[in-house]
Amino acid sequence: MSRKLRMGMVGGGPGAFIGPVHKMAAELDGKIALVAGAFSQSHERSRAAGEAFNIDPGRAYSSYSEMFEKERQRADPIDLVVIATPNHLHLPVAEAALATGFAVMSDKPATATYDEALKLQDVVAQAALPYALTHTYAGYSLVREARALCAEAKFGKIRKVAVEYLQGWLSKPLETTGQKQASWRSDPALNGPGGAIGDIGTHAFHLLEYVTGLDVIAINAALRSVVPGRKVDDDCNALLRLQDGASGTLMASQVAAGERNGLRLRVYGETGSLEWHQEDPNRLTVKGLDGPEEIYHAAGGYLGADALAVTRLPGGHPEGYIEAFAVLYREFADAVSAWKAGAAYAPPATLPGIRAGVRGMRFIERAIESNRTESWVNF
Ligand SMILES: NC(=O)c1ccc[n+]([C@@H]2O[C@H](COP(=O)([O-])OP(=O)(O)OC[C@H]3O[C@@H](n4cnc5c(N)ncnc54)[C@H](O)[C@@H]3O)[C@@H](O)[C@H]2O)c1
Repeated sequence: MSRKLRMGMVGGGPGAFIGPVHKMAAELDGKIALVAGAFSQSHERSRAAGEAFNIDPGRAYSSYSEMFEKERQRADPIDLVVIATPNHLHLPVAEAALATGFAVMSDKPATATYDEALKLQDVVAQAALPYALTHTYAGYSLVREARALCAEAKFGKIRKVAVEYLQGWLSKPLETTGQKQASWRSDPALNGPGGAIGDIGTHAFHLLEYVTGLDVIAINAALRSVVPGRKVDDDCNALLRLQDGASGTLMASQVAAGERNGLRLRVYGETGSLEWHQEDPNRLTVKGLDGPEEIYHAAGGYLGADALAVTRLPGGHPEGYIEAFAVLYREFADAVSAWKAGAAYAPPATLPGIRAGVRGMRFIERAIESNRTESWVNF
């Protein structure tokens, strides 16, 4: 039995959205413990978060550089760093963590810009240390099932995909009220140039490539900033060309009033199709060309090995967002523990890593270029 890995968090200060989710998910399977953090730029707020997370007050640091330096000198240093800050810090924090010898679990998007992602790719390759990216939806058991069905060509050749990620929470100029999450997301210097396309479009893009196993090869995207004065896009409609002759659509919007977290994927092959919706994640709809429509339920004994491997509860006990997040952590913890025990780092193919990170940033960059030139652009 390997010991629990020790995790240090960057971001996740008081009032933050995703930092506390990372803690819950990382600790769910008993393989990781949050022991340190630079939770905020402000020392007081970092200490307050440390207190709320119930860690040793001496391990709530004022900055990530201080955390890396002080942890490095401890007999029981952190093993991995989770990055839960606004996007502009993803590259510098990952770079500094890897340079100190810590594994990195980063939230998406991988960086703020595509150029930064290329740099990060080099940094990860040179460091030869574990790096993973929390594209949360890849952790759902029925997303794993959908991926397996596509891999075994259950519907024949894939012809068409439709993915959408619709939210309504930025329908008004929320960023002008000082709301924390809206403020940095609407500032290109902190967020990067892609608004909705970066914040949620990257999740949709990742889900599409993850499930189908096909790369997007060209895009024709129209981006808009619907809310007056907004500095980044808040609405995107895109046509896609994929490998093997498939085509598709991707919609990402944060001004779809009334929508909450409407991430939905449909994949159509020669003989049938599948549909998955993240607000109803324990059901996967499978339709045949001639046969009746089927609903696959999470934890069903008929599911494939990949889906059952990430199922914790008997059917009918819904698993959700935190459990899906925790699947990624569990896979990462096992790979990091094996690496710590002397093996070469070998992440499972199911865990998003630097390739997914660079693909996502390329997607944002290509979508913006397509919108600018009002034309198809290749990847
Ligand atoms: N995987 C997902 O589904 C998912 C969901 C939400 C957010 N995210 C990503 O997570 C990241 C954070 O998003 P959020 O909504 O939690 O933002 P947030 O504004 O709620 O939290 C960001 C935190 O980072 C802290 N921070 C800022 N600068 C810092 C610094 N220099 N040192 C230490 N801490 C610092 C802030 O104080 C804050 O506590 C973003 O990259 C976002 O894209 C991913």
